Amino acid sequence: MTNFWDELESYLHFLRILGVNALPKTKNIKRFLELDLTPPPKSLDDIYVEIKDCKRCKLSRMRNNIVLGDGPENARLMFVGEAPGRDEDLEGKPFVGRAGKLLDQMLAAIDIKRSEVYITNVVKCRPPGNRNPEPDEIEACLPYLTKQIKLIRPAIICTLGLIAAQTVLATQSPLAELRGKIHEVDGIKVVVTYHPAFLLRFPVNKRKAFEDLKLLKKLYDELGN
Ligand code: URA
Ligand code: SF4
Repeated sequence: MTNFWDELESYLHFLRILGVNALPKTKNIKRFLELDLTPPPKSLDDIYVEIKDCKRCKLSRMRNNIVLGDGPENARLMFVGEAPGRDEDLEGKPFVGRAGKLLDQMLAAIDIKRSEVYITNVVKCRPPGNRNPEPDEIEACLPYLTKQIKLIRPAIICTLGLIAAQTVLATQSPLAELRGKIHEVDGIKVVVTYHPAFLLRFPVNKRKAFEDLKLLKKLYDELGN
């Protein structure tokens, strides 16, 4: 028998997507993917048009540029980071600063070209001082990530860092429990690894990150591109 509370929760989240507010908050992409019945955008340009002047959360007041994402619309692999940093906010592109350079090296290590993957973040505007994005900001921004995922329909998502992992997988579990496994969300395989900025600070974890990348590479090769 379907659990009544699950049903009720689903219904309340469905109402939220229709724009009815004052309902329980979610920062959970899984629910969005499952319950957002609106048609997928036709192109990334459609999403650009929608996000262009976005003021859905307080991060809009401090940004220089919105960083929607970068990469081809037909990418089979999508990386999801946390939020733009200073360089990204100035350039309007994801992962162009120091963490981005390490991400480039991580991709090179598994022989995947940056130009063939789509790269984005959970929130699209820079949090002041690079603080973590707050739950209300994540929630406000999630419809954009949902639309990106629905449009691109990657076969694999690789999350970078705890916030991306917890948001995409709808979990509160620690990263140590989430990495090293293949998860699935709405038919998309999800691999979890450390955030490159975290690896810059704690390089001792690079070895484990490489294990994650090898798992990612294996899945990617299995797609037979
Ligand atoms: N860190 C992120 O999470 N995303 C970026 O785009 C840059 C740094
Ligand atoms: Fe809009 Fe997302 Fe920027 Fe907030 S972070 S203003 S929701 S684009």
